[in-house]
Amino acid sequence: MAEGTAAPVGVFDSGVGGLSVLAEIQRLLPNESLLYVGDCGHIPYGEKSPEFIRQRCRVVAEFFREQGAKAMVLACNTATVAAVADLREHYRQWPLVGMEPAVKPAAAATRSGVVGVLATTGTLQSAKFAALLDRFASDVQVVTQPCPGLVECIEAGDLNSPAVRELLQGYVKPLLDAGCDTLILGCTHYPFLKPLLAQMIPASVAIIDTGAAVARQLQRLLGERQLLAAGPARATQFWTSASPEHLRNILPILWNKSDSVRSFPV
Ligand code: DGL
Repeated sequence: MAEGTAAPVGVFDSGVGGLSVLAEIQRLLPNESLLYVGDCGHIPYGEKSPEFIRQRCRVVAEFFREQGAKAMVLACNTATVAAVADLREHYRQWPLVGMEPAVKPAAAATRSGVVGVLATTGTLQSAKFAALLDRFASDVQVVTQPCPGLVECIEAGDLNSPAVRELLQGYVKPLLDAGCDTLILGCTHYPFLKPLLAQMIPASVAIIDTGAAVARQLQRLLGERQLLAAGPARATQFWTSASPEHLRNILPILWNKSDSVRSFPV
């Protein structure tokens, strides 16, 4: 098992959404060896209880530690609001990166003063999200939109069917009608719908997501602890709690590389 700087980084999402974050990490930190777990057998987290999500996050964190991971990235907004505090408490010395909707940069960027947030029900209903709005969005109007059903489309590799188009259109329209000029993608699955979204919104509306910021935060944490890898990186390894065959089939659509895919053991 690789140790020290050569140890891998574990990246986790409820499903394939975290691949949008994995891509940013690989872009910024090409020397890092990466492990990816998608809890695809339990999506959508957006409609699950915080207790359930915390329990799954503990299971995956233990798995990453058994694999010798030097850090963990929660590449899932819903898992972060439910579980990051619990994981930080439990694994005090282990670098953990969570993610949250980009309210601060959006509030700074908006010219109309109206910001839209597309996210899961779990994220939007959380106390952590309410605290984020209190802290950074007191001077702007924030319109939130839960998006049930979108995650399932992306998990199926459906990024452009009439059904996903109609679903997304229905979620975006109220935000545009409210005068939003800045849209936050507050779920790591949604960046895969950016090309479709771009066809539905005026060019003047900005789309903001957090994958790149998460990669920078990981770089900062590893750097502070002298844990940045010198490379070369080993091939990314994938685990899924649903069918490995299914993930193998949709990885070419969402990831465009053929790495190893195994069944997540628990
Ligand atoms: N990808 C997750 C997020 O960032 C949520 C998807 C789900 O509902 O499972 O919030």
